[in-house]
Amino acid sequence: MCGIVGYVGATGGNDAIDVVLDGLSALEYRGYDSAGVAIPTPEMTVSKAAGELSALEETVSRDELAGESVGIGHTRWSTHGAPSDDNAHPHCDEAGRVAVVHNGIIENYQRLRDDLVEAGVAFRSETDTEVVPHLIGHYLDRGADPEEAFRLAVDHLEGSYAIAAVVEGSETVYAARQDSPLVVGLGDHGTYLASDVPAFVEHTDRVRYLEDGDIARLSADSAVVTDVEGRPVDRPTETVAWDAEDAEKSGYDHYMLKEIHEQPSSLRQCLRGRIDELEGTVDLPELEAIDHDGPIQFVACGTSYHAALFGAERLRTSGVDAHAFLASEYASDRVPVDEDTLVVGVTQSGETADTLRALREADRAGATTLAVTNTVASSAARECDHTLYIRAGPEIGVAATKTFASQQLALALLAFELGDEPTRGELEALRDIPGQVQTVLETTDARAVAETFVDADAYFFVGRGYHYPVALEGALKMKEITYRHAEGFAAGELKHGPLALVTERTPVFAVVTGDGETARKTIGNVKEVEARDAPVVAITDGTSDVARYADHVLEIPAVDDLGASVLANVQLQLVAYWVANLLGRSIDKPRNLAKSVTVE
Ligand code: AGP
Repeated sequence: MCGIVGYVGATGGNDAIDVVLDGLSALEYRGYDSAGVAIPTPEMTVSKAAGELSALEETVSRDELAGESVGIGHTRWSTHGAPSDDNAHPHCDEAGRVAVVHNGIIENYQRLRDDLVEAGVAFRSETDTEVVPHLIGHYLDRGADPEEAFRLAVDHLEGSYAIAAVVEGSETVYAARQDSPLVVGLGDHGTYLASDVPAFVEHTDRVRYLEDGDIARLSADSAVVTDVEGRPVDRPTETVAWDAEDAEKSGYDHYMLKEIHEQPSSLRQCLRGRIDELEGTVDLPELEAIDHDGPIQFVACGTSYHAALFGAERLRTSGVDAHAFLASEYASDRVPVDEDTLVVGVTQSGETADTLRALREADRAGATTLAVTNTVASSAARECDHTLYIRAGPEIGVAATKTFASQQLALALLAFELGDEPTRGELEALRDIPGQVQTVLETTDARAVAETFVDADAYFFVGRGYHYPVALEGALKMKEITYRHAEGFAAGELKHGPLALVTERTPVFAVVTGDGETARKTIGNVKEVEARDAPVVAITDGTSDVARYADHVLEIPAVDDLGASVLANVQLQLVAYWVANLLGRSIDKPRNLAKSVTVE
């Protein structure tokens, strides 16, 4: 949450204002309460505005700042202080020589602020961040050079932070990282800094990930990384696989729609090289070192929690003791965990604070930890004992779509690695899912269903077994991007209370596949809501007779329940998308949300 961009251009490089604003645009999914930039040469120029980046673009003159090669920028998701011009980053010292952008929370800011106020410093914002430029200014006043002043200021900070700072007249960007991601890009035309690679991937694919405690000094042709004492630390240069096109909309109106349509290819990418059909095996060399037959606990938030529920259920079908926990409740639930436990953090970003906290607690208790993530070298990937990448590619829309599907498939693979060996039929079924998703995308009636129910009072989603997490996910997608009331239930729970909410203005989306006992029971629940005049939308493979009781049918190919849950979810993603589209919502950047939630 919050996006940071920095750039020091080489001779013949780009204008910093262009690199920074374009980089912020790629990072806006991380927060869009306000945005700002600072260009420190020839004198410090700071522009900032509440609202989305477009509001900042109206106040900044790219022409006036053309030719300047150094800059930093920020797009904010508010923690301390309301979304306002004053609270927007960058923040400056009193003399206006120093500008700072920050992601995270400075936990001891009140004490630092009190000390600075007592020393006569006047604050302009309500943010925790503003202590940082004042501290840097304080040390500059005492004769420290900019790098020393930055280092001394950072040494005061407690909490989580990714910080970038510039000093008037200096062609250097300073950066520090603690519990909040920062990556350096090494390009032919300069050196880049960002919270995430998409900010500069159009300029370079050579990156260096900063680690906790790192301080970096970026100049036009290098990035020098040290610890807070100034001792050099070595961070390897890596090449990232993402290209700029992956992070663009490619003709779709929204990233979310593009990402929904990317699912066949991202799922193929997830499976590539991991299924050996000749041998009948799943091949996950990154997990070979795990020798585990004890209990498995999943920790995750939001959509990733729904994938975790799916993963736990899949493992239980192999007889493994597996359960999913909300990461934010993991500590207070006092979940029994010890060295016999494998704790799996499912997190697209790899930076979700609640999930990282739960993984750290598990680690302290002696558990083996595994990150299932989309983000290479994310905090989860670096901190866990093992990592399984879901390989979904960059997901820009705040609403998780393709990463959920890839999490489902990655967790199905994990279950074969840790549970029963796969049968050939099971491997073929997994292999066929990407193509079946393509079929759903080409044949879906989701838009027509959305048009029918765009004015509904509320939306309910029900399912059993693998379809229960899909019901929860369908409801989360609906509420997240439409701002309408939506709830997902285990189908059997409807009659225990939620049925009181059901009316002719509350469509019920029921996921019913196959014709077994589970399907028959869910059809019983469908009849209960039908009898109370609620419109029913059945997401079904047509095997059962659920269509007889449904007002609308969203068809999926007939496959096993595991695969059906992936396919049914695609239909529900599309219904949510089209309802939000008809309502004119901000689909890629829903109000109050951010892609990566790095606060607890
Ligand atoms: C889902 O659409 C949301 N973006 C949100 O629930 C998300 O899944 C959650 O914040 C967890 O994020 P993570 O996967 O990056 O840990």
